[in-house]
Amino acid sequence: MSDDSRPSPTGVPTAAVIPAAGRGVRLGPGAPKALRALGGTPMLIHAVRAMAASRAVSLVVVVAPPDGAAEVKSLLDAHALPGAPSGGRGSTDFLVVPGGYSRQESVKLGLDALPPEYEIVLVHDAARPLVPVDTVDAVIEAVREGAPAVVPALPLADTVKEVEPADTPGEAEPVVATPDRSRLRAVQTPQGFDRATLIRAHETVTDNVTDDASMVEQLGLPVVVVPGHAEAFKVTRPLDLVLAEAVLARRRMTDGF
Ligand code: CTP
Ligand code: MG
Repeated sequence: MSDDSRPSPTGVPTAAVIPAAGRGVRLGPGAPKALRALGGTPMLIHAVRAMAASRAVSLVVVVAPPDGAAEVKSLLDAHALPGAPSGGRGSTDFLVVPGGYSRQESVKLGLDALPPEYEIVLVHDAARPLVPVDTVDAVIEAVREGAPAVVPALPLADTVKEVEPADTPGEAEPVVATPDRSRLRAVQTPQGFDRATLIRAHETVTDNVTDDASMVEQLGLPVVVVPGHAEAFKVTRPLDLVLAEAVLARRRMTDGF
C-alpha cells in the first residue's frame, strides 16, 4: 500500500482494544500468554506497537489479566513505544483495564473504558503480535469507507471437514461434510468496527463467541473481509512461538541491511 492511501492521523478518531487477559492454556504452563517474551520483548508489547504503528490509531486500550493490570501498566511504561516514523504520526495514548473470564467479556470491559469521541474501534488479539501495519491500515480504511464491520482473512491451505465430534478425545470421528474450500476464509485480527455497531453487538448478543464480527453478523448487518497477512497468525501452541521467533529474526536481518 502506498503511503498516500494510508489512513491519516487527522481522520475519524480511531482506537484499538487489545484483549490480553487470557492464560494461554494451549501454549502450556508459564506466565499469561500476552506477557511471554518474543525476541526478548513481551508479546503484548509487540501487539501494542503494531497498533500504535498506524498513524490513524490515537488510543490503545489494553485489557490485562484480571490480577495483572498494575504489571501491564508498568510494562507499557518500561517499553519505549514507537516514535514518529518518517512522515510523522500523532501521539498514541494508552489505557489499561482488567479483563474478564472470556475473551468476549474482556473485549466488553475494554469497550466500556473507551472515551466517547472514538468513532472507529479495532479489536486486536494480543496473541497476534506480528500483524503488519499495512493490514491494520487496510482494515481502518474499509471501515472509513462505510463497512460497519471489517475482518482481515486468508484463504485456507488445508481442506476442511465437518465431523460429528467424538465424546472421547482421540476416537475416530465420522465425517459429515466437506465444505467448498474456495468459499472459506480463516479470519484474523485486528477486526474493525463502527463503534456504535460494535457496542450494540456486545449489548445484544449473549451467545459465547470467539470473534467480534460474528456478533455483528447476528445483528443482521454486513461484515466484509479484506486480505489478511500470514504474519498476523495467532500464537496459540508451542510451535507458533518458533514461527514468531523466526519472523522476528528475519525482520531484524532485513532491518539491519
Ligand atoms: N483473552 C482475553 N480474556 C480472556 C480470554 C482470552 O482477553 N478471558 C484474549 C487473549 O489474551 C488473546 C485473545 O483473547 O489475546 C485470543 O484468545 P486466545 O488466543 O484463545 O488466548 P488464550 O485464551 O489466552 O489462550 P487459550 O485459549 O489457549 O487459553
Ligand atoms: Mg482462549
